[in-house]
Amino acid sequence: MSSHHQRPARGWPIVVRRARPSDKEAALQFATNTWHGWDYIPRVWDRWLVAPDSALLVATAGHGPAGAEPVDSEGMPLTADVPIAMTRVVMLTETEAWLEGVRVDPRVRGLGVATDLQVAEFRWAASRGARTVRYVTGQDNEGSHRLGAKHGMRVVTAYRWYGWDDAAEGAVRPEPTGALGGAAGDLALSPDADLAAWWSRVASDRTFRSAEGLFEIRSWAFALLTRERFQAQVERSMVLVWPHPRQPLADDGAWALAVLRGGPEGEDDIDTPLPPALLLGHPRPALELARAIGGGRPGLPRIRLPDPEPPLLVGTGANAWAQAGWPAAERTAHILGREIDRAHPLPEPAHPELLEFTPEDI
Ligand SMILES: CC(C)(COP(=O)(O)OP(=O)(O)OC[C@H]1O[C@@H](n2cnc3c(N)ncnc32)[C@H](O)[C@@H]1OP(=O)(O)O)[C@@H](O)C(=O)NCCC(=O)NCCS
Repeated sequence: MSSHHQRPARGWPIVVRRARPSDKEAALQFATNTWHGWDYIPRVWDRWLVAPDSALLVATAGHGPAGAEPVDSEGMPLTADVPIAMTRVVMLTETEAWLEGVRVDPRVRGLGVATDLQVAEFRWAASRGARTVRYVTGQDNEGSHRLGAKHGMRVVTAYRWYGWDDAAEGAVRPEPTGALGGAAGDLALSPDADLAAWWSRVASDRTFRSAEGLFEIRSWAFALLTRERFQAQVERSMVLVWPHPRQPLADDGAWALAVLRGGPEGEDDIDTPLPPALLLGHPRPALELARAIGGGRPGLPRIRLPDPEPPLLVGTGANAWAQAGWPAAERTAHILGREIDRAHPLPEPAHPELLEFTPEDI
């Protein structure tokens, strides 16, 4: 049976609007202890509220079509205009939108609130020109995967961390240094280098393809690395290569390339030095590059590689990496995505009367 014929999960609509400063307390009530008492939303709320290239949306409970009072899953009344869910939509590039920070108040979970909020997210993104929408979630976040699947979000690629493991028992966070390893700056590719040759190495690299061409364009958000974006990163001295850019490649042709990303800019980074936005090439040069970026500290920076069987680690690469201090983390993350175009039209809410939202007003 299609969802159109199912009984609505709630008798009242969600009203989606942009968050206001006065929503903070109500939103943080349900977005502070999400995972075993932890969540990053309190650290980012103030910045998200004012970020110009994005919308911090909240859902509140409205009156039902026949005037019914909104109630939670236990029948308790919900207060008008107080957030019961939140989410953030960011335009990473002119056509690529990113979703993050979806949180639904536990009192109203399982009622289709996130499903309808997702329609609002897509509509806001499309109204700003998005042709692609993506998000990242843990491999075992079933709720998040099922939510995405309601409106055609599929796993596009997966990645796994290598190196210092914050999830390992007794892990002690290394002291942040905030800087690249001393010698790493010398490895920056200059705009005068043979960028066409480097770009063709990148574009045909199997690790790059396995990552579906995505790189971490900003903290925890992924977009396509195009030729133009590659060039822009080179011009900012944010592309490092191994061997040294003024040396020829070794006889075996082995090389590695790391795209770095900008500093935290108030972002919620926990790692320093920052993990590369992308690391490509061959196992040993890549390890040399990682060592140079981390200033020789094993396991730092953490490195993200596509999963399973990252092409960069074929052969003995994974062993050499583990021995050098970059063992594979246990779990993977999934990047999900979908297009918005003629073949993948914008989703409609299953019960249009239960979603009040006008993207043009936001
Ligand atoms: C995940 C979350 C946003 C879902 O919100 P919700 O309003 O309860 O979701 P909906 O009622 O719209 O359900 C959407 C789909 O997800 C499924 N789902 C929701 N929560 C689930 C859970 N905990 N486990 C398994 N499936 C779940 C629903 O069954 C439904 O799928 P179906 O129609 O195929 O059965 C909410 O549980 C939440 O805030 N979780 C904590 C934060 C989080 O994990 N956010 C996502 C981070 S990427």
